[in-house]
Amino acid sequence: MRSERTQVGIVGAGPAGLLLGHLLQREGIDTMILELRSRAYVEARIRAGVVEHGVVGLLEEVGAGERLRREGLVHRGIELQFAGERHRIPLSDLTGGKTIVIYGQTEIVKDLIRLRLDSGAPLRFEVSDVSLHGLDRERPAIRYRHGGEELELVCDVVAGCDGFHGISRASIPPGFLSEFSREYPYGWLGILAAVAPSNDELVYAHHERGFALLSLRSPTLSRLYLQCRPDEDLARWPDERIWEELQLRLALPGWTLREGPILEKGVTGMRSYVCEPMRYGMLFLAGDAAHIVPPTGAKGLNLALHDVRLLAESLVDFLGSGRTSGIDSYSDRCLRRVWRAEHFSWWMTQMLHRPENQEPFDLRLQLAQLRYVTSSEAAATVARGELRRPLVSPAVEEEPTTLGCAGR
Ligand code: APR
Ligand code: PHB
Repeated sequence: MRSERTQVGIVGAGPAGLLLGHLLQREGIDTMILELRSRAYVEARIRAGVVEHGVVGLLEEVGAGERLRREGLVHRGIELQFAGERHRIPLSDLTGGKTIVIYGQTEIVKDLIRLRLDSGAPLRFEVSDVSLHGLDRERPAIRYRHGGEELELVCDVVAGCDGFHGISRASIPPGFLSEFSREYPYGWLGILAAVAPSNDELVYAHHERGFALLSLRSPTLSRLYLQCRPDEDLARWPDERIWEELQLRLALPGWTLREGPILEKGVTGMRSYVCEPMRYGMLFLAGDAAHIVPPTGAKGLNLALHDVRLLAESLVDFLGSGRTSGIDSYSDRCLRRVWRAEHFSWWMTQMLHRPENQEPFDLRLQLAQLRYVTSSEAAATVARGELRRPLVSPAVEEEPTTLGCAGR
């Protein structure tokens, strides 16, 4: 087995792993990124698309925001639709001018891969048999296969950025982590369609047939979702049925939902999950490897990038000056924001989805909450956890921003 050496071995080239690699390389720290899939695969995977203000700032600050600034669509509000009416939540007005940017996670991944490859720093796709060793010792190692060769990467630190199904969290000895989760009896059937978006802003619709979301990717690409069962069989959803259902759930007098060719469709289950702590020895977890949220709050990508910002700061401090305060408090600092986002995502999910056989009492509660959120400025101001401080700062606090009342 051939042995190699790096300072930070990063497992996973999703947004978390790629941004972490970039932040560390900029500070002169050696990293190696290992990714299970091919470049073509990760660059084609359709994921979320809402980038919060602070994350836009972070990507720009580190030179990864040029295309986002050019092609991203800036939104200043969203719409909540219920009881046959749409109500606008003016996010910008409620947050002193902050905006969200619609730009696919896939595009962020492409931008970060390009930056990485241009910099010459190592990023290996299509690795296999990845395993972690000696995590509780000073020099952990990652063993893997690449191009038919067996390799060992000896590191100072391993960053587990390999998503919810990765091997990093699973390599922590049983019993060490506390895990918290909730499964929802819903899934989202999502489509990407070659048609101009039918609305300028996102529409979150509460409807008796189930939740629907109108989103977009560009002036010519619409992204739409329908609440379905978590194990929904896509074969039961020919394109005509999808459009028919979207038409019913998003319908509004005097407004038309434009239809077009469906380019991609898929079903995702919905789950909340957090593990604590986000560290074991010299293994640090970031992003979906440590926590996931249901997509309703559009928080997953933003949380993942926030984690790696804190992790990068902490590792620069540790590897550069031997200071351990940052890495020692990394998990607690992340988890505060994570739990706020968990709460927000759960709250949005339970307010907007219609369970099968919903009790009339619960429906009244949903409607009362929706009316409250859309009528009260206080209620519409909440946690859209954002970032505001420069990369190397002593502490990054949670920053409340907006969108709906996370149940205060
Ligand atoms: N070895 C190497 N790479 C792996 C392994 C492994 N054993 N297992 C998984 N991976 C890779 C996956 O192929 C993927 O490219 O790790 C990457 C993890 O990326 P993401 O799942 O995108 O997770 P993260 O970077 O934390 O980003 C979180 O992704 O799922 C969305 O909603 C979520 O927007 C959020 C974002
Ligand atoms: C998306 O465009 O993919 C999207 C938008 C808002 C959400 C979730 C997903 O809440």
